[in-house]
Amino acid sequence: MPVIDIHNHFFPNSWPDLAARYGTPNWPWIKHTEPGKADIMVGERFFRHIYSACWDPEARLQEMDRDGVDVQVMSATPVLFAYERPVEHALDCARMFNDAALEICSRGKSRLKSLCQVPLQDVDAACKELSRCMRSGHLGVQIGNHVGSKNLDDVGIVTFLQHCADEGAAVLVHPWEMFGRERMPKYMMPWTVGMPAETQLSVVAMILSGAFDRLPGTLRICFAHGGGSFAFLLGRLENAWHHHPVARGECQHPPSYYLNRLYVDSAVFDQRSLQFLVGTMGADRVMLGSDYPFPLGEERVGSLIRQSNLSQDAKGKLLRRNAARFLGLRVESQGVADTRSGAPEPERLTYSSYLKVPELLELQQPQSVPQHHDELLFILVHQTYELWFKELLHDLDAVVANLRKAGATPQSHDEVYEAARLLRRCTEITRVLVEQFTILETMLPTHFLAFRGLLEPASGFQSEQFREIEFLCGLKDEKMLRYHQPTAEAYASLKRRLEEPSLHDVFFGALQAMGKLPPASEGATERERFEARARAVHELYKDEHHHRDWIDVCERLTEFDELVVSWRLRHIQLVERIIGIRMGTGGSTGASYLKLTLDKKFFPELWEARTLLTE
Ligand code: HEM
Repeated sequence: MPVIDIHNHFFPNSWPDLAARYGTPNWPWIKHTEPGKADIMVGERFFRHIYSACWDPEARLQEMDRDGVDVQVMSATPVLFAYERPVEHALDCARMFNDAALEICSRGKSRLKSLCQVPLQDVDAACKELSRCMRSGHLGVQIGNHVGSKNLDDVGIVTFLQHCADEGAAVLVHPWEMFGRERMPKYMMPWTVGMPAETQLSVVAMILSGAFDRLPGTLRICFAHGGGSFAFLLGRLENAWHHHPVARGECQHPPSYYLNRLYVDSAVFDQRSLQFLVGTMGADRVMLGSDYPFPLGEERVGSLIRQSNLSQDAKGKLLRRNAARFLGLRVESQGVADTRSGAPEPERLTYSSYLKVPELLELQQPQSVPQHHDELLFILVHQTYELWFKELLHDLDAVVANLRKAGATPQSHDEVYEAARLLRRCTEITRVLVEQFTILETMLPTHFLAFRGLLEPASGFQSEQFREIEFLCGLKDEKMLRYHQPTAEAYASLKRRLEEPSLHDVFFGALQAMGKLPPASEGATERERFEARARAVHELYKDEHHHRDWIDVCERLTEFDELVVSWRLRHIQLVERIIGIRMGTGGSTGASYLKLTLDKKFFPELWEARTLLTE
């Protein structure tokens, strides 16, 4: 997968005289000073030295190769935003630079992509230009972090952000027009002090105003320069939120709850800062952003991340995977960056690298701030269950495959033995799963309630693998799909399970192939079919001498059924012990709902057959 830099800038080689075009002074223009070099001027004022990488794709690609960067997503610069100008001028200017960006990208050998700019002072015009740009090939938009005195929680700007979510446009928020400039006349302080504070202000405004509550989770928004001072001062914000009602704003949750609603880039230029940023935001939320090729940009793009002590997995997320998600890119190839000459030799396998221990140990990310002692246990126990669910699905799929083969070749017994052997593993795993609840019961109810509120609306209902196990074994309930609608992948897997023959179907299919279960007549009722299946099992048990292998499968399936009911019962006991008769975070009536599931059986015919047996 390629290395992607999501924050860097371009200037076209030339553009019309905007002051003459609009009849207003102080527009930016480019003054070429010597081959490959230029100055950006704003009216008569010098603004910035730039060089050919800003406008020449060849020069840019060469430096990308030097730095091991595969894709750059370029934006114009805030000096071109023109939010304070008449909207028709700002729109015309935006169109000009948006089209220029695409022209540079077209010569970038598919390695240059772009974010557009819009006249954000006018929501309608901004939405229309965004839509036009998305249709013409931009991946999203770069916006300034305010429009005059309007912060990002302004109703119009929130409407625009909603439109970005609808269009699937990635949003990069860049600080500009820093406040307090009169107190920062020297030393680039507007950039080093003003910009981080501006960005922090924007994130905080979005959180406390409830903008994130109103905007859909599909909005992909990133704040430049590591999110400014936001991450470092999150504790201060959180403290104010918890202890001072006046500091709470209108958001439904504490500020830290919203961390997974935003991305930040990695432009912090210091290892400790990067480590801290990843620790606070999570490795899924930080992306390579270099500010290349401007003077305050990263000199060797990506070196901060590459030289960090982050795990390989986290580096992969920061350099590639998070950006692909943020940009909505489907990046499928294994990536040139990892295979080009000069890439490090593959490391020799160790215990840690084989088992991915560092990555595994990074996967526990408590929500409570300050962290509640027991939240780690809560996360670990659930993750352990999910890992065992994974193994159960793996083994149950193999059981299905073996029983299918057994049905196809009734004279062969190997597959039946193999199915029984694997089912024994499933029962042993489930026995462990029943036992594990006791570990969670060492958590006092008060301790769980201290952080339970942060988990909503997450719920066990959303355990995709648990539901897959149910569907795979034959307990299919289409209604349960609704809990997985937000996650396309989970929804698709469950839909597939719903449509596939279950373990139950395949087991009785095999008995039919063996001649133990006569094909049901067309008009047979469900009850008659059920009784016929129970009689087929009864037949097996009556002829132990010939069907020892199949009886073994039946016993294992019965035991598995029994243990899953035990799991349900222990889960209910745990729920009652920890939250009493409270409602569940998934919206059910809690323990009383769960009690209804106790009657569920995967293989009721195996139980019915017991009644049919005579002395
Ligand atoms: C403090 C501990 C726990 C509490 C208070 C709790 C509570 C609940 C509640 C109330 C429900 C009903 C659905 C809802 O409205 O949210 C539920 C469902 C569920 N929980 Fe838990 N749970 C706990 C631990 C666990 C653990 C450790 C697992 C392990 C995977 C788990 C897996 C599930 C599953 C799979 C469901 C769906 C069950 C079904 O639909 O039949 N829960 N839980």
